[in-house]
Amino acid sequence: SKGDYAHFMEKEIFEQPAALENAMRGRFAADGSTAQFGGLNVTASEFRHIDRLMFCACGTAWHACLVTEHLIERFARLPVEVDYASEFRYRNTPLGSNTLFFVMSQSGETIDTLAALREAKRKGHRVLAISNVVGSSIAREADGGIYQHVGPEIGVASTKAFTSQLLIGAMMALYLARMRDMSFTDGVQFANALKAAPDLVRRVLDQAPNIREIAKRYAQSTDMLFLGRLSLFPLALEGALKLKEISYIHAEGYPAAEMKHGPIALISERCPSVFFAPAGEIFNKIVSSMQEIKARKGAVIAITTEGMQLPAGLANDVIEIPACHEAVLPIVAAIPIQLLSYYIAVERGCDVDKPRNLAKSVTVE
Ligand code: F6R
Repeated sequence: SKGDYAHFMEKEIFEQPAALENAMRGRFAADGSTAQFGGLNVTASEFRHIDRLMFCACGTAWHACLVTEHLIERFARLPVEVDYASEFRYRNTPLGSNTLFFVMSQSGETIDTLAALREAKRKGHRVLAISNVVGSSIAREADGGIYQHVGPEIGVASTKAFTSQLLIGAMMALYLARMRDMSFTDGVQFANALKAAPDLVRRVLDQAPNIREIAKRYAQSTDMLFLGRLSLFPLALEGALKLKEISYIHAEGYPAAEMKHGPIALISERCPSVFFAPAGEIFNKIVSSMQEIKARKGAVIAITTEGMQLPAGLANDVIEIPACHEAVLPIVAAIPIQLLSYYIAVERGCDVDKPRNLAKSVTVE
């Protein structure tokens, strides 16, 4: 039941601290420096010999794969490729013999993802799955995998399933990195950062009333842009998808620096932009992109790290997220875009849990 919440989506957004705890439970090694997964059915020496990973998924899960790519490449220094399951299936891409193949699917029933799994298996690859539904078609047909353990997700727009996929992707990156060049100390720090994620998420959830007020100011927009860089570029894609599917506002996600290569033509006082501007090495570059938007009269909603100073008058609205480890940043950054989309859709009177034209799992090609 929805309990005191107006929608399942709202309940599932607020459930995320507990969901993340569940997804992590029992999954850190006793020495606290790495992750462990029970059901992968891949030995350490087999893992040691892989030289590439490939992930296939659809929609929100595909965005989670893009973040996972960033973290695995950054920390484990292994090349990763991510494809839409529906494209992988028909494009006959070569898979090296030491490529480990993953599919990611919350429901475990998405037909395109299942078909990608079958195609990789047909080619003789071992296939692993990240899924939330125990005994789903994808979980049954995979050779091994990781369950998300976040309980049923009822709202059509994925929220807690997404952040738990991000968490498992980060744990995979930790596991693979610790088999390679990451030190014990860095591993402990990484693991401790993941363990702190639920509390950081709670702190962003506490800002819901503020985010609701911001949402009211933008609820009548016809177009919106979401801009982010590095690990938050996929979060920009996810923000745009979330807003589109539940509020029917046209939205697009881009890496912030791509704006000047075309999309900036859309900017006017009628097209606000949501910027991810976390503390980090490219903060100043993101601020320059904001200035380009502002010069064209576009409103700026900045999601930035507590304590960061944006130039006066640059952002129309600011949502602060706590400072955190790079591996946790995408999880923490997901919360403001979920709440913003949710409150905008509610403000517009949309049927948030059952958006038009959408089903919870897509079992047709
Ligand atoms: C968006 C959403 C969809 C799903 C996609 C894949 O909020 O829910 O984009 O992420 O249909 O679904 P799963 O993960 O069940 O394969």
